[in-house]
Amino acid sequence: MRVEDIDTVLELFEAVAAERRYIGTEPGFDRAVYRARLAARVDDRQRPSFVARIDGRLIGHLSISQHHEFGPTLGMMVAAEYRGRGVGRALLQQACAWATAAGYPLSLLVFPHNHAARGLYRSMGFLEVERFERDAVRANGEVWDTILMRKTFS
Ligand SMILES: CC(C)(COP(=O)(O)OP(=O)(O)OC[C@H]1O[C@@H](n2cnc3c(N)ncnc32)[C@H](O)[C@@H]1OP(=O)(O)O)[C@@H](O)C(=O)NCCC(=O)NCCS
Repeated sequence: MRVEDIDTVLELFEAVAAERRYIGTEPGFDRAVYRARLAARVDDRQRPSFVARIDGRLIGHLSISQHHEFGPTLGMMVAAEYRGRGVGRALLQQACAWATAAGYPLSLLVFPHNHAARGLYRSMGFLEVERFERDAVRANGEVWDTILMRKTFS
């Protein structure tokens, strides 16, 4: 991800947040905070971000954060109209290459109903480690479980 990608990544993030189904963040998040977070990681080799483009258009993003408990933890998204074409797999392959070189395991949290994401992660060798019941409070008052998945590379 380059500095000039940040606005487009934010737009993608807003669109996926507006689906209110797949990622923890929902509409109304503080854009300035997310912008600063993205900017801080552009040159950060410990927290890399990857983007996917088709015909020059940015349509996917994956970032790795350092979670205080789980270590390197990824979040990813593909624009709705480009899903199911191998973009997510390509992004995840980049993240796995980074983790292999760095010698870190990779973790993530996924909602149980997110079958596409769980299928992708499982097909790439991620294992479901733990289910956290009633872990994520949603804007509509619902509370969803999350599943911790992890892949080790040693
Ligand atoms: C999850 C997501 C990133 C996957 O990206 P994608 O580009 O659609 O996935 P791909 O086309 O690379 O699919 C890779 C694999 O995922 C699985 N998969 C994809 N869509 C699926 C679906 N609808 N149901 C079940 N498995 C699915 C399959 O194993 C697939 O491999 P195959 O095509 O060889 O069968 C994308 O759906 C997305 O952005 N969703 C909204 C945001 C999100 O859920 N982020 C992750 C939060 S944990």
